Amino acid sequence: MQSAAIEQTPYIALDDDACDARIREAKRALGERLVILGHHYQRDEVFRHADYSGDSLKLSREAASSKAEFIVFCGVHFMAEVADILSRPDQVSILPDLAAGCSMADMANLAKVQRAWQELAQVLDPDEQVTPVTYINSAADLKAFCGEHGGIVCTSTNAQHVLEWSFRQREKVLFFPDQHLGRNTGYKMGIPLDQMVVWDFDQPMGGLSEEQIRKAKMILWKGFCSVHQMFQPEHIDRFKEKYPEGKIISHPESSFEVCQKSDYVGSTEYIIKTIRDSEPGTRWLVGTELNLVNRLHDECRADGKNVHFMSPTVCMCSTMFRIDPQHLLWTLENLLEGRPVNQIKVPEKEAGLARDALERMLEVSP
Ligand code: 13P
Ligand code: SF4
Repeated sequence: MQSAAIEQTPYIALDDDACDARIREAKRALGERLVILGHHYQRDEVFRHADYSGDSLKLSREAASSKAEFIVFCGVHFMAEVADILSRPDQVSILPDLAAGCSMADMANLAKVQRAWQELAQVLDPDEQVTPVTYINSAADLKAFCGEHGGIVCTSTNAQHVLEWSFRQREKVLFFPDQHLGRNTGYKMGIPLDQMVVWDFDQPMGGLSEEQIRKAKMILWKGFCSVHQMFQPEHIDRFKEKYPEGKIISHPESSFEVCQKSDYVGSTEYIIKTIRDSEPGTRWLVGTELNLVNRLHDECRADGKNVHFMSPTVCMCSTMFRIDPQHLLWTLENLLEGRPVNQIKVPEKEAGLARDALERMLEVSP
């Protein structure tokens, strides 16, 4: 009989340095049986242990192609779900702290999306006229909903390619959960703002009239990322007054006004690459999570580049921050004992449909 997992409590009191040495040792011992994936928003003490880092799309691809027995995802819950869905059945996807969710992903759930679909059916035929598109920041059952209804998943990197594909299938898109990524991408593609309506999931018919629904090209779920809502157009104006030559780069989860005032808009990987590739001496104002911006700031200082954080208040993704060295170490030492803890396993029926929507996304991605 297999013995119980190592208890977590003693790990909580360990300091980061003690964890660091033991994480390295556990990684050495597990060798190729283990891969650690780290999202760019992870704190440094965790990020440094990642075998691969990236945005959601890049890490999904790493998970899909990894041969490792254990995929430890230093990110948030939906990322570990995607790793489970795209990896082989015998691979184990692990999230070091199960409380690491995504508050934006939680703004849509299957019951509310199904209700929206039924309500839309009072005005039009959604299965003929609407492609459901879910941002990858969503639970697996919503990806499965998209898989079942001829829809697709997108990330911040491929949203435009995904929307182009979606409009080739059907005339309208229901986009959830992030209204901002939907609006910013739709507008870039030439869809006027008045053809993008917001579906308020707490109101009957999303709070929309039949005419608004019939006229809309995109129906945007009323979800948002609280971290990216901290960035305001005034922050950009103040920076520009002080540094007229400075450049602005933002993540598309930021508001329409912020993205309109930005010189560049793109995923976390895009933000890093754009600043890394810029001329020495360039000054940047960056609208995305603080851990990423601080790391870029330190890295680019040597090239004489200045990287500023967009908000005057400290705003980190508190759920990404839940992954700490203590949880990572606890996870790895359990693997050394042959007892995977915090495995993320999506039920097979749901995983199959979600995989259909994810594979459509991978096919249309650049
Ligand atoms: P990226 O895919 O751009 O890394 O975005 C993920 C995310 O959660 C941003 O808030
Ligand atoms: Fe979710 Fe926002 Fe955190 Fe990204 S930054 S994981 S969207 S809460």
